[in-house]
Amino acid sequence: MTILDGKKTAADIKEEIALEVAELKSRENIVPHLAAIIVGHDGASITYVNAKVKACERVGFESSLIRLPENTTEKELLNEIEILNIDNDIDGFIVQLPLPEHINEQKIIMAIDPDKDVDGFHPTNVGKMALNLPTFISATPFGILELLDRYKVETSGKHVVVIGRSHIVGSPMSILLSQKRKVGNATVTITHSRTKNLKEITLQADIIIAALGIPEFLKADMVKDNVTVIDVGITRVADSNKKSGYRLLGDVAFDEVSKKAAFITPVPGGVGPMTIAMLLKNTLLACHRNN
Ligand code: GUN
Repeated sequence: MTILDGKKTAADIKEEIALEVAELKSRENIVPHLAAIIVGHDGASITYVNAKVKACERVGFESSLIRLPENTTEKELLNEIEILNIDNDIDGFIVQLPLPEHINEQKIIMAIDPDKDVDGFHPTNVGKMALNLPTFISATPFGILELLDRYKVETSGKHVVVIGRSHIVGSPMSILLSQKRKVGNATVTITHSRTKNLKEITLQADIIIAALGIPEFLKADMVKDNVTVIDVGITRVADSNKKSGYRLLGDVAFDEVSKKAAFITPVPGGVGPMTIAMLLKNTLLACHRNN
């Protein structure tokens, strides 16, 4: 069994980006600039955004964090987005999700200039992704493709079962892995809460992408030997033994499933760190396009 070490792979990628940034800086005096908007005080979201900003600093990017109060109106947020859209100094930006209930998420995503949408959430970019055209691929699916690539996990002709149909992970993952691309050419089954006989389907999988958000959902009796398992889940579960008061659980019962797996991602330290590295990669891509 091989652990797909997202923490180490992300560190490798960030090192590669840092080298490229240093070269860009010395040769052309260009510094990539990522901005992030966060609305409200959701603990997990603040942790994620801070990690993104810190990662920018580590690779030599410029970063801007725009913190807005919970009661920010949709109009005020749209104004902030417009400021970033027209600011030539900003290569790309993200609006951290989820947003407070009174703000229409889709309307916000639609307002982002697709050329600055390094999250790859704008319908224009989702459409390009679905057509296998050059675009920003969302950080989580992009990170999974990169992890499979770097560990040389064969996907061509394999049966991939995706559990979960979210716009951020399940849906794009199923599209990307079925495409004619380096990490792709798989036969993909997408499953969700209405799927019948899920276990029958997962038992046929060469590769399983678990992205449903139910802690330790995938058990050993649901997978065949030598399966590759990608665990996208990160649920905070109360744990008084931890300083933070919680621990992170994936969608996979790691201890039992890892005994049957050929490759498996841990939680934490698997897909999570990869997403930040790929966001930086998208920002670098945006910067190249802008110059
Ligand atoms: N919330 C959870 N994941 C993400 C992400 O990748 N991008 C943004 N903007 N918000 C998120």
